[in-house]
Amino acid sequence: MYSVNSPHVVNIHDLRRVAKRRLPRVVFDYLDGGAEGEVTLRENCRVFDDVTFRPRHAVAFGNCDLRATVLGNELSLPAMLAPVGYSRLMHPGGEVAAARAAGKAGTGYILSTISGHKLEDVKAGSTGPVFYQLYLMGGRAAAEASIDRARRAGFAALVITIDTPVSGIRERDPRNGMVELLNPGLFQKIPYAEQFLTHPGWLLSFLKDGGVPPLHNVVLPGKGPMPLTDIGRALAASTVTWKDLTWIRQHWNGSIVVKGVLTGDDGHKAVDEGAAAIVVSNHGGRQLDCVSASLRALPEVVAAVNGRIEVLMDGGVRRGTDIVKALCLGARAVLCGRAYAYGLAAAGEAGVTRAIEILREDVKRTLVLLGCPSVAALDSSYVRIPKDWVAN
Ligand SMILES: Cc1cc2nc3c(=O)[nH]c(=O)nc-3n(C[C@H](O)[C@H](O)[C@H](O)COP(=O)(O)O)c2cc1C
Repeated sequence: MYSVNSPHVVNIHDLRRVAKRRLPRVVFDYLDGGAEGEVTLRENCRVFDDVTFRPRHAVAFGNCDLRATVLGNELSLPAMLAPVGYSRLMHPGGEVAAARAAGKAGTGYILSTISGHKLEDVKAGSTGPVFYQLYLMGGRAAAEASIDRARRAGFAALVITIDTPVSGIRERDPRNGMVELLNPGLFQKIPYAEQFLTHPGWLLSFLKDGGVPPLHNVVLPGKGPMPLTDIGRALAASTVTWKDLTWIRQHWNGSIVVKGVLTGDDGHKAVDEGAAAIVVSNHGGRQLDCVSASLRALPEVVAAVNGRIEVLMDGGVRRGTDIVKALCLGARAVLCGRAYAYGLAAAGEAGVTRAIEILREDVKRTLVLLGCPSVAALDSSYVRIPKDWVAN
């Protein structure tokens, strides 16, 4: 068992280090890596340094209020857990463990289509709001069936990811044997065996969990759950377009969130198509490389949307200061991807709980140091941003 408590783990970077120790290289790099030259992956984190704080000193107040509301769901802190595919490869608890930790912490969880656990089990495992992130893989009939299941199970919103017409090329994956790991054949795994044998703890838990799970939430008519191996091809054959939102709305009468907006134009389109919220996101630098860092794209999208729908953001959030900066620039809340997935990979539910706790303490401390009594009171007057960020 790897410790995720202080002083071993003080921040998210420490959790990443523990995750790296526990996971074989192929799984760690799948989680940690980005597309092509990883320019956007790096920039997502670095860009937070361009924004500096303008604190108000010598003010006193009682408890800071960290609560935020997303689509009518009250969260105990302004951060939800982003959809992270293949979570069950990181830890057998996977999506159920992450959702449970989010619920106990008073926040929300977004379940990826690429999930090794049944959506009903994930929803039942959490006391907090759970959203379902939909890819159209497997075709319309499969998508409609999962939308119906998500409605019956009580999911609070549907998230449509629009930045994945094909899977980005994450160059670490083919080098490490990701395809070979996902495929059933033992023979093909032999060249990559050393990384599994040197991580016996992970290997044992993976084998006890039954190996690579199928996609329980993509049920192909007449065939059953889609195997994980087909994902690249399935994504390429199922590009979502703005037009698809019309039929999706016929099956889902709850809130729709569009994830993957990086320009004011796409923000306008999401409003026109009836989205209730958008996520300014570049998929954590895993899709098109060399797009803007999410934080850099945020002011343009916030200005375009102009308060008509809720704006969330994700990408590069590793500290509470990052969360506070995103809120100062107009996000209602952030989504965290790797920050909690490192925790999941390190220690299952306990690791996710620790990640959320670190971020919560960070946000609280940052508000006190800023002289701001609540998350709701944050605005652009608390930060200095580079001049050209607002112009375009
Ligand atoms: C390992 C991994 C798998 C992901 N899988 C999905 C997915 O299935 N669907 C999706 O919409 N986004 C997916 N994302 C993107 C995240 O939802 C989120 O946009 C991104 O992680 C935010 O960046 P961050 O990791 O720097 O916080 C994934 C991200 C990671 C790291």
